[in-house]
Amino acid sequence: MKSKSPTFSATTITELMIPSYANFSGKVHGGILLSLMDKVAFACAAKHSGTYCVTVSVEGVEFLQPVEVGELVSLKASVNYVGRSSMIIGIHIESLKPKTGEIKHTNTCYFTMVAKGEDGKTQEVPQLLLENHEQLKRFVEGMTIKNISKRKRVLLDEEIEKYTKDNLLSHCKNERCDLSKFS
Ligand SMILES: CC(C)(COP(=O)(O)OP(=O)(O)OC[C@H]1O[C@@H](n2cnc3c(N)ncnc32)[C@H](O)[C@@H]1OP(=O)(O)O)[C@@H](O)C(=O)NCCC(=O)NCCS
Repeated sequence: MKSKSPTFSATTITELMIPSYANFSGKVHGGILLSLMDKVAFACAAKHSGTYCVTVSVEGVEFLQPVEVGELVSLKASVNYVGRSSMIIGIHIESLKPKTGEIKHTNTCYFTMVAKGEDGKTQEVPQLLLENHEQLKRFVEGMTIKNISKRKRVLLDEEIEKYTKDNLLSHCKNERCDLSKFS
């Protein structure tokens, strides 16, 4: 299978934030942005793999700055890393106020997409052709994200396994949960 460059599959979606996307305070719903992230990640992964892809996990989604109705949101996606069937898609999100030209970088996040064949089984994807330092850096970053996410899942399971019913309760003593009806 021939390797493919990240530039081959790089994808940008720009969408106008219309009033029906807003919540009661006039800001855009987080779910609208999540859906756009998923779409651009799918398009980018499908171009690289040449197959249907599914979303497996998401890292680094944060909504630190609100997006307003009337802004143009651009999501730039690229394949940063590939394993056998998985691809880490980096998504850089910016929002532009057309009248003032002000641009906010709202977030960078990473979607793991997996390629599937017609039979529904995971499918090998082309190697990533790395042609410059930036692409190499992103590849290693993707490898690190994959390893850290795996370790995080294992650590969480191990940590929760350690607790008995009693020390679970004592752990929550100074937390903001009401245990007055706990039995
Ligand atoms: C993701 C899925 C394909 C994994 O299937 P599986 O039989 O466990 O396959 P594998 O263990 O071989 O994993 C396949 C790849 O997914 C990766 N993967 C599996 N679980 C993962 C997770 N939680 N986070 C990140 N990557 C994961 C593996 O590392 C592997 O990558 P590689 O081939 O590059 O090494 C399967 O769980 C699935 O189809 N999930 C549903 C996805 C979906 O429908 N998403 C839409 C949302 S409704």
